[in-house]
Amino acid sequence: PLIALRPLLDYAAANNFGVAALNVNNMEQIQAIMEAARATQSPAIIQASRGARKYTNDLFLRNLMQAAVELYPEIPVVMHQDHGNSPETCISAIRMGFTSVMMDGSLEDDGKTPSSYEYNVAVTREVVNVAHRFGVSVEGELGVLGSLEHGMGEKEDGHGAEGKLTLDQLLTDPDQAVDFVNRTGIDALAVAMGTSHGAYKFSRKPSGDVLAMSRIEEIHKKIPNCHLVMHGSSSVPKELCDIINANGGRIKETYGVPVEEIQRGIRAGVRKINVDTDNRLAITGAIRKAFFAKPEEFDPRYYLTPARAAMQAICEERMKQFGQAGHA
Ligand code: G3H
Ligand code: 13P
Ligand code: ZN
Repeated sequence: PLIALRPLLDYAAANNFGVAALNVNNMEQIQAIMEAARATQSPAIIQASRGARKYTNDLFLRNLMQAAVELYPEIPVVMHQDHGNSPETCISAIRMGFTSVMMDGSLEDDGKTPSSYEYNVAVTREVVNVAHRFGVSVEGELGVLGSLEHGMGEKEDGHGAEGKLTLDQLLTDPDQAVDFVNRTGIDALAVAMGTSHGAYKFSRKPSGDVLAMSRIEEIHKKIPNCHLVMHGSSSVPKELCDIINANGGRIKETYGVPVEEIQRGIRAGVRKINVDTDNRLAITGAIRKAFFAKPEEFDPRYYLTPARAAMQAICEERMKQFGQAGHA
C-alpha cells in the first residue's frame, strides 16, 4: 500500500534502521525498486524530482505507481516529491497522489540561489499547513547541500577554490534546526553534512571524518522527533565506473560516500538516505555493455532488461546495508 513518510520513518527510528529513497524517471526504475523490495522484504521510498515529473508526465507516473502498489501489495511504498522548489510544486504533487513532499526552501525557487532563513521557514510552513491536512508528510532542508558540486571534495583535499563557503557555513546549525522544526512542523529534515549530489563528490578516497558525524548526533539529540535525511548518498562504486569506461564511457576518477559512513550516519539518527547516482551508473554501465557486446541488436528489451537488473542489484544491496530489509 501507499503510505506516508512519517509512519515509515517513525518505525525505522524505533527499530534503528535507515531507508533508501530511490529516484525514478521511468517504468524500469520503478520495477527495479519494487523487485528489490520484494526480494529483500523491504519497505520502499520512491521519489521523483521536478525533472522526473516533467520527463515522465505526472499521469504516467501516478499510474505506474498505482501499478506498483497493486502488483506488490505486501510492500509499504512512500511516493515522495524530491527537492520541491516551491509550495506550488509540492501542492501539485499532493494533488497527484504523492504521500510525501520535500519543500527545499534552502534555495530560492530557481533551485540555485541560497535563500534567506525566513524565506525557508515561510515556504516550508506553508507546505506543512496544506500537506498535513491531507495526511502527507513533509521534508524540509536546512544548510547548503548539493548546490556546490565538487565543492566538498575539493575542500576535503584542501584544494578548495577561493571564495567558496567554509565547512562551517555549509553544515546545518543545530540551534537553527531546533527553531526550524518548531516553526515549520516538518516530519523530516535534510541536513547539510558534507555530501553533494552527483558522481563527483570527492577527488580522493575519503578517509576519517568525511561526514560531520558529531554534527549529526548533536542535531539528532536536539530534534529527536524530526527524522534526519541524508542527500547525496551515492557511494559511486568503482566497479560501476569501470564497466562504463570499459565500454566506451568516460567517467573520471571519483569517490562517493562509503557505505560504512552511511551506516555510521544511521547509528547517529539518519533515517532517509537519498540515492540516485549509483542507480544511474548501474543502468548506464549495463546498457553500454550490452551495446558493445552485440552491436547488431536493436530491440530495446535487449539492453533495458540487463539495465533494470543492474539497478535492482544496487537497490537490494543498499536495502540490506541500510537495515530496511526484512521490515516490509
Ligand atoms: O537531487 C537530484 C536527484 O538526483 C534527481 O536529479 O533533478 O536530475 O532528476 P534530477
Ligand atoms: P546522489 O547524487 O548522491 O545519488 O544523491 C541523490 C539525492 O540526494 C537526490 O535527492
Ligand atoms: Zn538531494
